[in-house]
Amino acid sequence: MNSALKSPAHASDLNSKPAHRGEIELKNLSMSFGQGASQVVAVKGVNLTVAPGEFVSIIGPSGCGKSTLLNVVAGFTPPTEGQALLDGVPITGPGPGRGVVFQQYSLFPWMSVRKNVEFGLKMQGVAANKRETTARTLLGLAGLLAFENHYPDQLSGGMKQRVGIVRALATSPQVMLMDEPFGALDAQTRVVMQQILTNMWQKFRLSVLFITHDIEEAIFLSDRVFVMTARPGRIKAELPIPLPRPRTAEMMSSVEFIQILHKLRNLIREESLAAMGHELDAGGLEGFATEVGPSGVQQLV
Ligand SMILES: Nc1ncnc2c1ncn2[C@@H]1O[C@H](COP(=O)(O)OP(=O)(O)OP(=O)(O)O)[C@@H](O)[C@H]1O
Ligand SMILES: [Mg+2]
Repeated sequence: MNSALKSPAHASDLNSKPAHRGEIELKNLSMSFGQGASQVVAVKGVNLTVAPGEFVSIIGPSGCGKSTLLNVVAGFTPPTEGQALLDGVPITGPGPGRGVVFQQYSLFPWMSVRKNVEFGLKMQGVAANKRETTARTLLGLAGLLAFENHYPDQLSGGMKQRVGIVRALATSPQVMLMDEPFGALDAQTRVVMQQILTNMWQKFRLSVLFITHDIEEAIFLSDRVFVMTARPGRIKAELPIPLPRPRTAEMMSSVEFIQILHKLRNLIREESLAAMGHELDAGGLEGFATEVGPSGVQQLV
């Protein structure tokens, strides 16, 4: 795989970008939905920075506001309080400097793989021959050149997700925002995708804000991992991942990796139980230590 990722034949545009690649800053950011009694506070007072070229993951229990945070950074929704900044400028809407990859494949089914990848460049008015060269270079890096004329429904899930990543990279974004992009994939495909992503990130040195439920995935890919609390989502902990680069699959069995894994597991377990404790009945909580809290409701302890 690595040989396929060596310097592309041309990729002039992709390699000629200045070294500075998007800094993300979230300042005291809060996000609520609805009003009055039905109001849901999804995210509360989040402070977080992604340095240019840094790979940062967010991990936290279901419903703690991870996607909400990412949507704010993508510019899809404004925050209720606080600020989201890209290179010091408040984010007010989506922009070509931010590539977004979601868990669900979001390719245009009526377009071939290559046309999907070229789409963003076409919107930017890039000439057809240049679009084609860029798309083919990136597809080659992701091992998909042989499928450039296929349609999305002729691809496997992992291949579709690779096309999604390549499509997001095609416009040379400063920032990649990824919301559980490998969530639907089997364990083996996922490992391959993680290696492809870390290789591509190393090559293009863009800033990445990555959301995952998979602790090992977060450690393997990231420079830093943020753990969020159960809703309302706040930052509970921040862990640097001091493993050397490039990352390899062998590192996942190193002592250092396992130590970080244990630390993160403990932090996340507390929050996952807290998140679900509010919604599970006594039968669902069997096997966990619980006690009746002041409100008379069963709580996990
Ligand atoms: N558009 C919306 N309108 C109302 N409530 C919303 C909206 N989007 C999210 N929420 C609520 O905000 C909270 C956080 O949702 P969010 O999707 O950000 O969680 P998440 O951490 O991404 O969860 P998961 O890990 O399950 O994807 C949830 O309680 C959800 O119901
Ligand atoms: Mg989500």
